[in-house]
Amino acid sequence: MTMTATALPVFAALRAIDAIRQRFAQRLAEQRETPAIAAELAKAITLLADVDFDAADISHLRASHHPVVSRLKSLAAKKTDDAILSAFLPYLDVLPWRYSYDARADHPGLETRMAWAELIGPIAPFKSEKVCLGLTAIGPRTLYPDHAHPAAETYLVLSGTARWTMNGVTRRQAPGNFILHPSRVVHAMQTGREPLLAVYIWTGEVETLSTYAASSGS
Ligand SMILES: [Fe+2]
Repeated sequence: MTMTATALPVFAALRAIDAIRQRFAQRLAEQRETPAIAAELAKAITLLADVDFDAADISHLRASHHPVVSRLKSLAAKKTDDAILSAFLPYLDVLPWRYSYDARADHPGLETRMAWAELIGPIAPFKSEKVCLGLTAIGPRTLYPDHAHPAAETYLVLSGTARWTMNGVTRRQAPGNFILHPSRVVHAMQTGREPLLAVYIWTGEVETLSTYAASSGS
């Protein structure tokens, strides 16, 4: 990447997606995940096989210059042998980050502290109506408040150990961990000193956006 880069190159997007697909297949083969997560990974692999990767809509690869990028500076110098993280790190500032929720008076500035960049989905460079795949970024010391969506969601943590809450249970999740949020189940994440970078994949009703839960004050 050069200082003049204005978009995520198609080859870089494809390399990152390929690394994600390989990791999903590897974890499935290792049989280390719960049956529910394994089932989602298997579903994702099948759906990703139907995506036409020869037809990229490059309008969705343009850099959005979202302020979350400034919260990820500690990642830029990170040394890693993780193939997925290696594929994304040089391009964090030219990913098509966006934030789709309405602003919240009780969380001022939240829209500057977190965002996601979708690579596969109904409005993404690689089109699918059945599966979404992208990156979620959350800056340090930030709460992504209670939210839910009809799609089933599987995360793979790439960088940053954060506290993940679902059904009232909070767990620290480290890089390499997979987390499943079933359809319509309320969940939240709280970062500490480190920013969080994680792959997400949605299956099921992928065209309905996530919404904040009614009483998500914490
Ligand atoms: Fe979610």
